[in-house]
Amino acid sequence: MRKNKLFNWIIMGIFLLLASSPLYAEDGSHDTLSTVIQVMIAITVFFVIIVLWLVMVYSEKNDTEGSGLKKFFGSKKPVSVEEEEKLLLDHEYDGIRELNNRIPPWFNAILYGTVVWAAAYMIYYHVIGSGNVQEEEYAEEMRVAAMQHEALASSGALIDENTVTITNDVADLNKGKEIFDKNCAACHGVDGGGIVGPNLTDNYWIHGNDIKDLFKVVKYGVAAKGMPTWEKQLTPKDIQDVTSYILVKLHGTKPANGKAPEGDLYE
Ligand code: HEC
Repeated sequence: MRKNKLFNWIIMGIFLLLASSPLYAEDGSHDTLSTVIQVMIAITVFFVIIVLWLVMVYSEKNDTEGSGLKKFFGSKKPVSVEEEEKLLLDHEYDGIRELNNRIPPWFNAILYGTVVWAAAYMIYYHVIGSGNVQEEEYAEEMRVAAMQHEALASSGALIDENTVTITNDVADLNKGKEIFDKNCAACHGVDGGGIVGPNLTDNYWIHGNDIKDLFKVVKYGVAAKGMPTWEKQLTPKDIQDVTSYILVKLHGTKPANGKAPEGDLYE
């Protein structure tokens, strides 16, 4: 008897865990579960509780009478060993015969429960069509992702050495000059003619003349040659602005005391 009780509690625990797992599966992207979903969850929990209750009642061995619910769900009363003859079905396979036993009430409860559940599911998702089915959820997630991407792109956070392009925007170029005068002029000269660092106004480049090449040099630096890395101090957008400023405004000017060319000639 005591063993039986313990077994019941273990079964109940497992059932409750199983029943509640879909709730944890919610990824939090939906702030409010719609009322219909809440009702469906409530119905499921209700059925699970009924089933558990029936399992417990049914497994009480000395309760042969059974309650009203048990009579409703159970198709036949339990039969004693002496009366089993009556339940014997007329077929036989290699000497194996079958008893037409009573179906346990908990089994029927699960069966009827799933039928009701299927009907509710069908109506909600396919007849009324108000359920957020997978395709709609997918489209919604894609829409949100596109918005996030756009926000990131407009903030400049997505710019890197593979995607950077020259900006001709006046405000961007002014910002670029500000950054250059503050951080770069000490080595490259305010006019870009070069001091410790090379001349940035001529057609000779050590690392290439494409905006992507310049971006890379500024971002990662050339540690061995004394060009600092700016990855930590400047945002990708800042680096785009300052390299654009070099190519659009400084390049092609002929500063008075410009340093002699270094690197290769780029036409
Ligand atoms: C401490 C001195 C120093 C500072 C500050 C500095 N640079 Fe440089 N820079 C150098 C040196 C030295 C080189 C040459 C590297 C080499 O020889 O590979 C260089 C190279 C470059 C090149 C590549 C030139 C070429 O010919 O390929 C670019 C572009 C550049 N720097 C831009 C900048 C920008 C933009 C800043 C400011 C954000 C900056 N530098 C700040 C010293 C400096």
